Amino acid sequence: MSTTPASLATTTALILAAGQGTRMKSAVPKVLHPMCGRPLLHYPVRAALEAGCGEVVVVVGHGRELVAGYLAKAFGDLGGRVKTAVQEQQRGTGDAARAGLSAVAATAERVLIFYGDVPLLEASDVAAVARRLDLDRDAPVAMATCVVPDPFGYGRVLRDAAGNILEIREHKDLKTDAERAVAEMNPGVYAASVAFLRDALEKLTPNNAQGEYYLTDIVSFAVKQGKKVAGVLSRANVMEGVNDRHQLATLEDEMAARIVERLRKSGVTVRTGARIEDGVEIGPESVIETGVVLRGATRIGKAVVVDVGCVLTNVKVGDGVFLKPYSIATDSTIEQKAQIGPFSHLRPESHIGEDAHVGNFVETKKTRMDKGAKANHLAYLGDGIIGAGANVGAGTIFCNYDGFQKHTTTIGAGAFIGSDSQLVAPVTIGDGAYVATGTTVTRDVPPNALAIARVKQENKDDYAIKLKARMKAAKDAAKK
Ligand code: UD1
Ligand code: CA
Repeated sequence: MSTTPASLATTTALILAAGQGTRMKSAVPKVLHPMCGRPLLHYPVRAALEAGCGEVVVVVGHGRELVAGYLAKAFGDLGGRVKTAVQEQQRGTGDAARAGLSAVAATAERVLIFYGDVPLLEASDVAAVARRLDLDRDAPVAMATCVVPDPFGYGRVLRDAAGNILEIREHKDLKTDAERAVAEMNPGVYAASVAFLRDALEKLTPNNAQGEYYLTDIVSFAVKQGKKVAGVLSRANVMEGVNDRHQLATLEDEMAARIVERLRKSGVTVRTGARIEDGVEIGPESVIETGVVLRGATRIGKAVVVDVGCVLTNVKVGDGVFLKPYSIATDSTIEQKAQIGPFSHLRPESHIGEDAHVGNFVETKKTRMDKGAKANHLAYLGDGIIGAGANVGAGTIFCNYDGFQKHTTTIGAGAFIGSDSQLVAPVTIGDGAYVATGTTVTRDVPPNALAIARVKQENKDDYAIKLKARMKAAKDAAKK
């Protein structure tokens, strides 16, 4: 379905995104509301770029600094291919297109126009409208049309008896029941030659129910000049716009299903109930269980198992890693074949080495664990370096914070940290050293040394019998 990129090199996409989106009831501009991990506006801009448009001009207005800021961040590396134009007052889609046209490159031959709140559109949908303009040499404008079961609220496509498009009439401007019954609606994707558009937009008037400049009036303008308007019957299921948060959620489900389908077809097992954002990558033979949430720039290798309920945000996961249920990781790296969880918490800048194990109720933060290191149960490991093959016992705490500053705990390769030890940072445990259970380490431990710091045990023979008798007597006395 898609045209070759070269064929749209002299086409500019104009994406209208200046409106406030009142029905979102939000301080955030509508087009910046997130859908599958990216702002709504990301998707139409991407569709235009993928269609091969030489240039994309986004018309901004409401919240313009925020919208322009996002575009610079997301597409700024394309050498100015994505630009913005400002519409000072939101006086209608025709006025927005006029504002956009002023920023279109002098070399552009034609313009593709669509709206910034229609996220499911794909490159092939918009390219088809641009291509029609080329095929229909005597039509200065082409537009997508859709037949829908409930066209309420949309502009309707009115045709003559011979089937020629005459006009788009906005819902509020419909006059008769026959007009209201028209099921062919305007989804809002147009292509036009620059010369025609400049002329048509200059002559718009706001003579309609809403007192706005309607972009849709370019259609009747062409007809009045005796010209033809080409219609492209399009997929209705991708043409829906977002007006409120309910529509946003409905379309987000659609988008999420699309992401899952793409992954499944690339060899990933994704169970129903997993939620995967648009920017996530997953290698083949991996299994993503139900209730898993994968966000941001998470990159998962091959044959990885992400078991039930894990939440990964911006995490790099190597091949063959096993993330057991309900593990949470953020801004971290997990090297190949490591095992995490169940119930592990990797906070930012954790780096878990190859074959390393992090077990239940272990929390790491800014900690590097080298190859084969293990911390299998109940530990807080913040600001640490744990050498290859070291073993950190249950209940170990890195006391990294003195109330003012954070300090580092360094554990050498092959060291053994006995259960219930506190390592008071800054402190270094040498390679091969052994920290006895229950030790509070406050001084560095040399390589291969034993550190032990606990009260010596004393056993009193038969003393338990005497002790119990005394305690029973005390209890009986209290009852009376
Ligand atoms: C528009 C169409 C209607 C079509 C429908 C499809 C017009 C007049 N009507 O109506 O025929 O069926 O879309 O969804 O075009 N915008 C601006 N500046 C403005 C006004 C709007 O940039 O001054 C932007 C909005 O941010 C939005 C888009 O244009 O992204 C569409 O505007 P909206 O008010 O939602 O148009 P509809 O009434 O839905
Ligand atoms: Ca709309």
